[in-house]
Amino acid sequence: MMEQDIQEILFSQEALARRVKELAGEIRRDYAGKAPLVVGVLRGCFVFMADLVRELDFPLTLDFMAASSYHGTESSGKVNIQLDLHDDIAGRDVLLVEDILDTGNTLSKLVAELKSRNPASLKLCVLLDKPERRVRPLEADYVGFTIPDAFVVGYGLDYEQQYRNLPYVGILKPSVYQR
Ligand code: IMP
Repeated sequence: MMEQDIQEILFSQEALARRVKELAGEIRRDYAGKAPLVVGVLRGCFVFMADLVRELDFPLTLDFMAASSYHGTESSGKVNIQLDLHDDIAGRDVLLVEDILDTGNTLSKLVAELKSRNPASLKLCVLLDKPERRVRPLEADYVGFTIPDAFVVGYGLDYEQQYRNLPYVGILKPSVYQR
C-alpha cells in the first residue's frame, strides 16, 4: 500500500481544495478581461492544473510542455524540453503551471525559453515552493504552499513515477528512496 510509504500528510485533500480555490481567486482578479493560455508542465501538474482551471470561470486555452531534469530524488541541473507547445505564444498572456518549484533548474529554463517567444505576459503558478533548495533566482507569482526541504509525493507529484495518484501531499519516508 502506498500509505505505508508516507511519513506525514502535509496537505489533506480538503486543505488542497481550499488553497486551490484561493489561488484561483487571485488569478481571476489578475486576468480579468484577458483570455490566457494556461500551460501545464507535465507530468506533475496534471492534478493541480485540473483542479485549478475548473475554478477559473473565464475563457482560457490550455497547452502542455514536458521537461526532464530529475533522476530519483536528485535534480540533475540539465534540462531538456521533451514536449513543446502546439501553438505560437507571441502576444498571448501565458500562465505557466507547475507542481513544485525546487532548485529552479527546470522552471528557469522553461521561463527563459517561453520569454524568448515574446508572450504579452508570462506568470508562474506553483502548488508548492521549496525556497531553501533554490539554486536559480526564480520566484513564482502564485504559490499554493511554501514547504521545508523534504521530498513530497501525491496530488500529481511522484517518486520514480509512483504516488502521483495519492489524493493528498505527503512526505515520503526516506527509507523508500534509501533502499
Ligand atoms: P527543479 O528543477 O529542481 O525546480 O525541479 C522541478 C521538478 O522536480 C518538479 O517539477 C518536480 O517534478 C520535481 N520535484 C522537485 N521536488 C520534488 C519533490 O519533493 N517531490 C516530487 N518531485 C519533486
